[in-house]
Amino acid sequence: MKYFITGGCGFIGSYLSRQLADEGNKVVCYDAFNNYIDPLKSNYSNTLAMRLTELKDKAEILRGDVRNKGHLLRAIRKSRPDIVVHLAAVPIATKANEFPEDSQGINLNGTLNVLESMRELGGFERFVYTSSSFVYGDFEYEPADENHPTTPIDVYGGTKLCGEILTKAYGKKFGIDYTIIRPSAVYGAGDSNLRVTQLFVQNALKGKPLTVFDDGAERVDFTYVKDTANGFALASKSKKAVNETFNITNGNARSVLDLANAVKDAVPEAKIESRESDFLRPKRGTLSIEKAKSMFGYEPKTSLEEGIKNYVESIKGNKIIW
Ligand SMILES: NC(=O)c1ccc[n+]([C@@H]2O[C@H](COP(=O)([O-])OP(=O)(O)OC[C@H]3O[C@@H](n4cnc5c(N)ncnc54)[C@H](O)[C@@H]3O)[C@@H](O)[C@H]2O)c1
Repeated sequence: MKYFITGGCGFIGSYLSRQLADEGNKVVCYDAFNNYIDPLKSNYSNTLAMRLTELKDKAEILRGDVRNKGHLLRAIRKSRPDIVVHLAAVPIATKANEFPEDSQGINLNGTLNVLESMRELGGFERFVYTSSSFVYGDFEYEPADENHPTTPIDVYGGTKLCGEILTKAYGKKFGIDYTIIRPSAVYGAGDSNLRVTQLFVQNALKGKPLTVFDDGAERVDFTYVKDTANGFALASKSKKAVNETFNITNGNARSVLDLANAVKDAVPEAKIESRESDFLRPKRGTLSIEKAKSMFGYEPKTSLEEGIKNYVESIKGNKIIW
């Protein structure tokens, strides 16, 4: 199979691209090399270098922006992929809220450009759209399955849900087979979006405290990046996954305090402190992964404690402690 992966040099994209290439697929990574975090804090250049070192002999890397429909269409036409996986986005809620115009340009118009290119060119096996657990908004029940109401409470969740709606509309109207994937709180070496896991690992290794808000009670379905990548790979190949939506997570929410303790286990000198929060985030928790398990055998393998240990060891091994 040949894959064209928008955002293929990103955190999740680089793991997915490597896995697919190792399985014998041809992979083209189409990426604009965007990062929305202050470079002094994100460690983006070192992290990107680490990703590219591991990718460069396995995938074709194309610089391109999904906002530029002409360039995108020409790149897809030249690559002639069987499957297009669309990961490019303003990928994190805090930044999507801060940069709504970019969220509109990339998450909405960019998705439309990928779908339009596929409609014009025709002949693809599948479009894999990357959504998010943020489409659910506040969880009304747990584990939240794929039929849970979708009532996002922010720009990020809103744009991700719009992308799902467009994906389904193009599927119905133009016959583009699709699979929609909703990941949650993905972590591991290679993240440069300063999500809580990166922040904690980074602070622990720099001797700074790990700040948990409201006693770290918030519960999140943290998912190790290799499990996420494997879920994408399985879903993209499964015939049963055509025109279906899946949660791809660990399936077991853990508290932010559990996360801080897992980091402390891996870096014993780390210190944990607590503060009151002043921000609004959806109330989340465990997502049901039964559908992905039963339809294509998805089975996450990595506990939070193991995943954090791998993360810390990989950062130390790559000497990207900043
Ligand atoms: N990491 C998570 O916890 C998580 C959870 C749910 C959903 N997601 C979704 O997964 C996808 C990947 O997230 P990630 O964590 O790997 O983030 P990332 O920032 O590491 O990867 C996104 C990639 O897309 C590229 N990109 C951004 N704008 C682009 C554009 N206009 N044209 C082409 N490429 C562009 C970036 O350069 C980057 O390489 C995103 O769609 C994100 O919303 C991530």
